[in-house]
Amino acid sequence: MSELLFTEIDHVAIAVNDLEGAIAWYEEAFGATVEHREIVESDGVEEALLKVADSYIQLLTPTNDESPVAKYLAKKGEGLHHVGYRVADCAQALAAVKASGGRVIDDAPRPGSRGTTVAFIHPKTSFGTLIELVQE
Ligand code: CO
Repeated sequence: MSELLFTEIDHVAIAVNDLEGAIAWYEEAFGATVEHREIVESDGVEEALLKVADSYIQLLTPTNDESPVAKYLAKKGEGLHHVGYRVADCAQALAAVKASGGRVIDDAPRPGSRGTTVAFIHPKTSFGTLIELVQE
């Protein structure tokens, strides 16, 4: 057995059509507040991070029709898009996935939102869930 590389659930990412509406609902129903908002042009998304203890709910909406999130919404509708697992060392965790024979989307760590370093693992490897490795 390998040592545990996850240090926290970093975020649960939910794809929505109406970002403002989704934020308003989380605020009204649960008292959740937005801690960070960012447009990540390279991924074609706008996101809002709502803090929950040491993790986040990440509400995601596409900024253009070519965005992977736009394609996801068109195909599957709104809902759970991916889970971000926090790790101490993204490159190490990515190497561990590759060493186990896993298929990755990002061959090397790259910049994510709020200054993080991230890499995505293909859902075919991770039992149907898109996984993002997140290093703060
Ligand atoms: Co994410």
